[in-house]
Amino acid sequence: MSTPATTKIKPIGIPDLAARKGGEPIVSLTAYTTPMAKSLDEYVDFLLVGDSLGMVLYGFDSTLPVTLDMMIAHGAAVVRGAARACVIVDMPFGTYEASPELAFQSAARVLSETGCAAVKLEGGVEMATTISFLAGRGIPVLAHIGLTPQAVNTLGGFRVQGRDDARSKKIRADAQAVAQAGAFAVVIEGVTEPLARAITAEIDIPTIGIGASPTCDGQILVTEDMVGLFSDYTPKFVKRYAELGTDLEAAVQAYARDVRARTFPGPEHCFDASPAAAPLKTGTAP
Ligand code: KIV
Repeated sequence: MSTPATTKIKPIGIPDLAARKGGEPIVSLTAYTTPMAKSLDEYVDFLLVGDSLGMVLYGFDSTLPVTLDMMIAHGAAVVRGAARACVIVDMPFGTYEASPELAFQSAARVLSETGCAAVKLEGGVEMATTISFLAGRGIPVLAHIGLTPQAVNTLGGFRVQGRDDARSKKIRADAQAVAQAGAFAVVIEGVTEPLARAITAEIDIPTIGIGASPTCDGQILVTEDMVGLFSDYTPKFVKRYAELGTDLEAAVQAYARDVRARTFPGPEHCFDASPAAAPLKTGTAP
């Protein structure tokens, strides 16, 4: 009798992502929960547990109120749902900027308490020492430059970066600095296309674009933006692949109508008095 072959899934690691410079584009999306991680796992190379969860899930105006404990809880949930995709967790505002030592303590908690593969932090030249400190101590770092949402107050809002010469030069210097410091890849967010293209050609680590350039070595979007679940406003850099928000509203309207009309629950949703009935379990017909 033959036993069914079990196919072991090989998880994608940080060296696999780093090796994709100039190769097959890296596909990435955000995930904050186990079910979402399970849905995306097969199709993406890495899942980012972004601090965008503060705005998308918790209704904050910015990512600044997000805490390390929130990131760890969501990071661990995503790791539980991912079998193949590499999981990377954002370091929230205030947990790494003050010193390399603080960054190490925070990042070590993230890695050990979630089981993720790497952390992401925002900043360029000014974070180079910290990136090198972490990378040299076994903590892979995904850098994030350009429009860095944690610096929203300094940048004066969520604006496209690199339209003037001085800012463009600074972002190019940031890219060089994080690559030399040992980041394994860098997210480039909200910059002009020529700038993202130039940086991608100039540095030897993969660039992951969001509002950047098709020439980047990979792309990332916030999943809820991509499927129409977050807000009615769609930023220019987002392509919507579904309208789940509209579908959700239609489903809730239909449910409310059925309950008010007493057409839900129907007899098929009710239990008879038979003692042989199977135990109640969500998703299983008793
Ligand atoms: O927090 C986040 O989700 C991010 C991505 C949009 C890059 O930083």
